[in-house]
Amino acid sequence: MNGEKVALHGAQETLLITLCAKAGESRLPDSLLKDRFAAEALARIDYDFDRLKIDRDMMIGIALRAHVIDGWTRGFLEQYPESTVLHLGCGLDSRVFRIAPFAGVRWFDVDYPDVIALRHRLYPAREGYTLLPSSVTEPEWLDAVPQDRPAFIIAEGLLPYLPPEEVVLLLERVTNHLPGGELAFDAYSRLGLTLIAWQPSVRATGATLHWSLDDPEELLRQLPGLELVEELMGYGSGGYDPAQVARMSLVARMAVPVMGMIPALSRIGRLLRFRF
Ligand SMILES: C[S@@+](CC[C@H](N)C(=O)[O-])C[C@H]1O[C@@H](n2cnc3c(N)ncnc32)[C@H](O)[C@@H]1O
Repeated sequence: MNGEKVALHGAQETLLITLCAKAGESRLPDSLLKDRFAAEALARIDYDFDRLKIDRDMMIGIALRAHVIDGWTRGFLEQYPESTVLHLGCGLDSRVFRIAPFAGVRWFDVDYPDVIALRHRLYPAREGYTLLPSSVTEPEWLDAVPQDRPAFIIAEGLLPYLPPEEVVLLLERVTNHLPGGELAFDAYSRLGLTLIAWQPSVRATGATLHWSLDDPEELLRQLPGLELVEELMGYGSGGYDPAQVARMSLVARMAVPVMGMIPALSRIGRLLRFRF
């Protein structure tokens, strides 16, 4: 194969899990995400994706998460056509192309320099779209982000990989830098983090997970400038479309309602949206 050779490890390599899942889900006849950009990028990468052991349930789960965040982003941009989007730990996610924002939107994708270099090779440039090569924990990259417009900040599949004190500092820094807006991310309880760390796909990358959130109130105490607007739990109680759960394997379809009834299991994973 003559594709882009990828030599990423640990947390960086996990971007191949989400890319592969989104591309795989997009090839299903009943696809929710329809992420042809992910499918095209994946086809150009020289990497043994089989080692990540991504099954159909995982494809649907990751596509669902991305679809919910896409919906939140679109909603915000409709309300604020002149705004800023910050996508932290963007990996090879193609949200900026899926959403194709209006000309008044300035969009920034941030990830490590190796990852941004790969993005440059796989995706085209776009008017109003800037790639920032940096660890999100370095404060300097924010200097490139103008402070004059409401902002939608996304951290999808990122925060669990950061040390807990860095998560709070990062969220404090980005929300203080911008005049106001919304912040969306996924968070997992301590039990959820243990279960993710045991997933064959994550184990294949050697990534280690650090930050967990058992209750969003913990974060609100640390960051009093945040206001919780929306909280979606797992696949069962409330948030996600049951039609999507119906696309999953028999085992998953049976497990999801049971998990929804057991408090510790119903709260292992959350999608959260805050106002700041
Ligand atoms: C699971 S992937 C998620 C990628 C993308 N958000 C998605 O949903 O497809 C985790 C991403 O976080 C990035 N990441 C982890 N720690 C980071 C840090 N300190 N600074 C910047 N990016 C980081 C990794 O490089 C990787 O792209």
